[in-house]
Amino acid sequence: MLRKALAAIGIAVAVSMSFASAPSIAGDAAAGEDVFKKKCKSCHDLEKDKTGPALGGVVGRKAGSAEFKRYKGLVDADFEWTPELLDEWIKDPKAFVEAHTQNKSTSMTFKLADDGQRADVIEYLKTAK
Ligand code: HEC
Repeated sequence: MLRKALAAIGIAVAVSMSFASAPSIAGDAAAGEDVFKKKCKSCHDLEKDKTGPALGGVVGRKAGSAEFKRYKGLVDADFEWTPELLDEWIKDPKAFVEAHTQNKSTSMTFKLADDGQRADVIEYLKTAK
């Protein structure tokens, strides 16, 4: 009897703890700004094209639609960037291009393997106009 009650309390605590940690999985924009500076800024600016296209307002924007002249994998892309697609793109741009476009390769030669850093940088991009 007591053991059953203790087990029930244990489950309740575990469930409430998993809810409490959910926001960190969703990403943190401030941490994401830091990731952007360290991992993306060498090629990307928010306002102007560099080695890669400008990224201000990219969430919800049509892929491959900045003034940027050197799109390769995203040429003729026919979708808008959602947080889910961005996650897949940043994780592995080449695999992404093969799965979502007619093209075979990309000029973004960078992958971000860390799930948490991707979530953070996407959260930051949502705030970047
Ligand atoms: C080595 C340079 C380089 C780095 C580092 C880099 N990118 Fe890119 N990025 C590119 C290039 C080049 C393209 C265009 C790809 C193509 O068309 O094949 C691109 C395209 C993109 C696009 C698509 C934009 C559009 O207009 O559709 C997004 C989003 C993006 N990068 C996000 C990121 C993020 C976030 C990071 C850091 C985590 C990052 N990139 C790091 C070079 C880079």
